[in-house]
Amino acid sequence: MKKPVVLIGFMGSGKSSIGKQVALLCGREFIDLDQRIVLETSMSIPQIFAEQGEPYFRQLERSILQKSLEQADTIIATGGGVVLQEANRLLLQRTSWVFNLITSPAAIFQRLCKDRSRPLLLDATGQVSYERVEAIWRERQPYYRWAPWQIVNEGRSKEEVVEEIVQLIRLNVVFDSSTTEEG
Ligand code: S3P
Repeated sequence: MKKPVVLIGFMGSGKSSIGKQVALLCGREFIDLDQRIVLETSMSIPQIFAEQGEPYFRQLERSILQKSLEQADTIIATGGGVVLQEANRLLLQRTSWVFNLITSPAAIFQRLCKDRSRPLLLDATGQVSYERVEAIWRERQPYYRWAPWQIVNEGRSKEEVVEEIVQLIRLNVVFDSSTTEEG
C-alpha cells in the first residue's frame, strides 16, 4: 500500500530541495506545505506571523497538512514546526512514512544567516541569531527524533541523501504490501 512520505526537520534542513528530487525519482507528486499556505492565504509566511500571529499560522498548517495527507502518492515537505502539535504527530504516525532530516545548528546557521524569511529565527534587530537557532533546535530535538527514519543531511551530497530516502521508500512499499497481503 502506498502512503504519503513526509519530510520533517529543522528550518533549513533541506526538506523542500530533497523532497523535490525524491518525488521526481519516485514518480510521486511533490507538496510543499508552506507554499500551499502562501497560495491559500495570498500572504507570505512573515506576513502571516506578523499580522495574524503564530497560533493562526499553526491552525492553517494543521488544516493544510490534513488535506494534503488525503493523497497517498506524494512526497510532502513540511514546515519545521509541524511536529510541535501532538495532534499532527499522531496524524502523521497513522497515515505516513516520516523521515527526519538531521542537520546541526551550525550548518543551519550557515545556510540561513542571510535569509530573513523565517520570523522565529530573527532577533530584535531583524537578523538571524545563532543563539535563537541553537535554542529552538535544542528544544525541538525530541520532536524531530520521534520520526522512525533519521537521515543525515550534512557533510554528504544531496544525491546521496536523495538516494538513501528513495531506497528506503522502495523497500517500504514492498515490505508494506507484503505484510498487508498476509494480514
Ligand atoms: C517554521 C518553519 C518554516 C515555516 C515557518 C515556521 C518552524 O518552514 O513553516 O517559518 O516553526 O520551524 P521551513 O522549515 O521550511 O523553514
